[in-house]
Formats: sequence, C-alpha cells, structure tokens
Amino acid sequence: MNWTKEQRYKRLDEAGEKEIQELSKRVNECPWRQKFHIQPETGLLNDPNGFSFYEGEYHLFYQWFPLGPIHGLKYWYHTKSRDLVHWENVGIAIEPHDYFDSHGAYSGSALEHNGKLYLMYTGNTRDEKWVRNPYQCIAIMDPSGMVTKMGKPVISNIPNGYTEHFRDPKVWKSGESFYAVIGAQRSDETGCVLLYSSPNMMDWKFEGEINTGLMHFGYMWECPDYFEIHDKGILIFSPQGLHPKEDEFQNIYQSGYIIGNRLELEERNFEHDSFTELDRGFDFYAPQTMLDPKGRRILAGWMGLPEIDYPTDQYGWAHCLTLPREITVRENKLIQTPVSELKKLRGEKIAVETIITPGRVSIDGFHGETYELIAEFTDADADEFGIELRVGEQEKTIIKYEKATKKIVLDRTFSGQPFAEKFGTIRKCHLEAEKIKFHVFVDVSSVEIFINDGEEVFTSRIFPKKESTGIRFFAKEGHVHLNAVKWAVS
Ligand code: FRU
Repeated sequence: MNWTKEQRYKRLDEAGEKEIQELSKRVNECPWRQKFHIQPETGLLNDPNGFSFYEGEYHLFYQWFPLGPIHGLKYWYHTKSRDLVHWENVGIAIEPHDYFDSHGAYSGSALEHNGKLYLMYTGNTRDEKWVRNPYQCIAIMDPSGMVTKMGKPVISNIPNGYTEHFRDPKVWKSGESFYAVIGAQRSDETGCVLLYSSPNMMDWKFEGEINTGLMHFGYMWECPDYFEIHDKGILIFSPQGLHPKEDEFQNIYQSGYIIGNRLELEERNFEHDSFTELDRGFDFYAPQTMLDPKGRRILAGWMGLPEIDYPTDQYGWAHCLTLPREITVRENKLIQTPVSELKKLRGEKIAVETIITPGRVSIDGFHGETYELIAEFTDADADEFGIELRVGEQEKTIIKYEKATKKIVLDRTFSGQPFAEKFGTIRKCHLEAEKIKFHVFVDVSSVEIFINDGEEVFTSRIFPKKESTGIRFFAKEGHVHLNAVKWAVS
C-alpha cells in the first residue's frame, strides 16, 4: 500500500473507532506477535525514548505511529515496569499536536529533576514547502503520571554550521549542571554530535560540537547517548551513511560506540578508540541507556531498522524493542548481558551434557517456540559447531562458530518469510575464544544471542512458521562437548 501524506500525518483522534478496531483485528491475526518483548498494539514502533527510573518504576517510552506499519506522525507511547521484565502499557505520553511538534514528537530522553520526570524530545515540523524545522522541547511528567508539555520549545534554533537534521536530545546531570547531546549534521553533510548545557533543564546554552576523531563518518548521527562507567566515557550513536567494510556495517544504518577517557566538558574533547558496532545482528538501531538505582547502566534498542519492509507490515504493525541489557566495560570494550531479572521468565527446565559427533542431533525435550537457551561448547576438534533454532521442514536459523576463520556466524537464509534480503542473509564477527557460549532468547519472531557472556550480541527478527519449533545441535568434521540448558518461556 502506498500511503499518502494525509494518511501518514493523520492524528489518532482523526481516526474512527471502526478503523482502529479493524486495524487491531488484523494485528491480532498476526502469527508473529511477540510474547515477552515490548511491541505496539497497532502500527509502528521505533526508537526507545525516555528510558528512566522514576517513583519506584522503570519507564520506557517509544516512538509510535498508531495507524499503520509506516513512519508517519510520531507519538511517544509510555510503558512502565517494576522489574524490567513485565511491562504495563500506560498509553500515549506525548501527542504531536502543537506548532513545535506538528510533524512528530521525535526521539528524546528523560531525567528526574525537582521530583518530576523531565522528557526532552525533538519536535519535528515541516512548513508548506515541506522544509524541516526541528525544535527541542520539554514535557514534564508528575508523580501521578500526568504529562504536561511546556508551551514553547527550549531550543528553537539550529546553530550555525549545521543543517535541519538536528534531533534526539539525551540529557544527563554532572555536578550542578545539566547536559544534553544532540544528533546533528554539519553543513558539509557529515554527521556529528552537539553539546548543550543548562542550569535548570529549561535554559539551554550551545556549547559546541563534541570533538571526536570522526570528521567524515556518515552523513548524520542519530540518537546520541553519552555516559560514563568508572573512568571511561562512552558515546553511543547511530550513524547513517557508512559503507560495508568486511563483516561490519552490513545493515542499512549502524549503531555503535566510541570509548575513551571521560569527555572534557569545557573543551569538549573526546579521545577515543575506533567505532565498534553494538550488535552484530540484522535488526538493531537507535539504542538508549539509563542508570538504574542499583547503579547499573541498562540499554534498550529498537529491534528494527528504518526504510525496510517487514513481514508483519501486512498485519498492520511493525517492530518491537530489544530485551534490556546491562552494560559493563572490559578492556575498553562494552560487554552486554541480559539483565538478571529476566530469569523470572524461566519456566520448565531441561538440561543435557553430551558430545556432539559429526552431523546434527535433536535432543529430547529441546524444542519450542519461545524459550531461553544456554549452550556451552568446549573441547572442539570440529571445524565448526553450533545450533539450529526454530527448525521446521524447510526452516532453520543457524548460529555457529567457525574455528578456522574464528568467526561467529548467524545465518537467517532459511529462517522463514524472507525480507531485507538485499542486505544479505548472513552476519559474522570475529571472536578469539576456546570456549563458546551461546545465550539465546527466542521469542515468536526474534532471536537475541549473547556470545561468551556478552562479548558480542546478535539481534534479529525472524519470521518462521509456528510449527518450526525444532532445535538441533551440530558439529562438522569433528566433535565438540556440549552443555546445554533450556527454559520454556510462556
Ligand atoms: C531514528 C530516528 C530519530 C528520530 C526518530 C523519528 O530511528 O530517525 O532520529 O528522532 O527516529 O521517529
């Protein structure tokens, strides 16, 4: 279906009840609705926004177009949770109905201040000639959950030297001051991040560009996020316009980080290592982090990418968020592990210890549509070994280790309904290791695979048939010792 401008920018309150009912009906007929991921009731979800802890609960908002699986008029939708596992749909938090956000309440972040939760976001607007003009805005949530927008933007102009691609403020506090990083594009059409400061979250001063070593690194950096872990500074962002380089940058757009000593806020100098992708899978973009009361840095991402059609589109909805991951630093590398609370999802358990001989095996009790699986492979003399997930007559999703090339490989060539094939159906990354541990979360239409306790992660949507519930372990040209545990998740 081709959507007209009127349809894309239709407000939810302009849609009739019947239209919404029909859309919901289609969504509910979809065989690929997730079980334990945040997903929209209808329409399209994209970036996580405003990830925070306030009044005893985690709050996680997301970009939402309610009326179909397209990037139309964006709202902020609000979900909350006490445990990062069970999420309650609260409802719309920000409606894009004002002159400063008329074409979308775009991405942003949240920070508690004076007992309230401040939501800072980009108001996207277009004039009659369809020229974009972004405003940075504030909405304030009180302890009862009521959200009130400020009547005017807090940053109305784009600094000289930058284009209208100026969005996605991420705020934090350092000492008595507030800071925000905002994604931007220089006038020469290269991407970068701008720094602002404020004494009170309302009056913002342009400090300047963050001086990284990346002057020509894509044409736009979306969704920046700066935070510190011990003495390290970390800047996450989603650059657009990188070209594929060996196994890297295979998706349409990327998401990754640069790490170094803490950012010098005065000079805005950031010395850092090279850019590293956060996730090696097919569907991961625009992540955002928060610091929780336990002192953990937790990340959630969008399990999807812009400008790609997904098989759920035909059912009137698209995308979900990733599971929350805890981020730590080891030797200048971000390590990502699923938050420990996710153990609450564990149902019936089955375990096995065995030697996998050349070939493939199914093991009694190892099957399912939704589950958590930990498989440790040791003492391999096999050339390659791994797991086939969601196996059916003609379907399988393969995760494996190739010893000769020292690569982890995710293959979704036969995962089910094909999509985005022009970006390839195999993802790889290098990993030097003797033991290989795959920690896998399989939902109805996704896999998240944490490798060796978070050294790498592969996140991907897959669209298999419901009956494709097999699990097979395999080894090629040799043996491997396997220790596996699986918990059903229902
Ligand atoms: C990233 C992004 C952001 C923007 C939002 C709009 O996916 O393009 O830059 O704020 O999505 O929905």
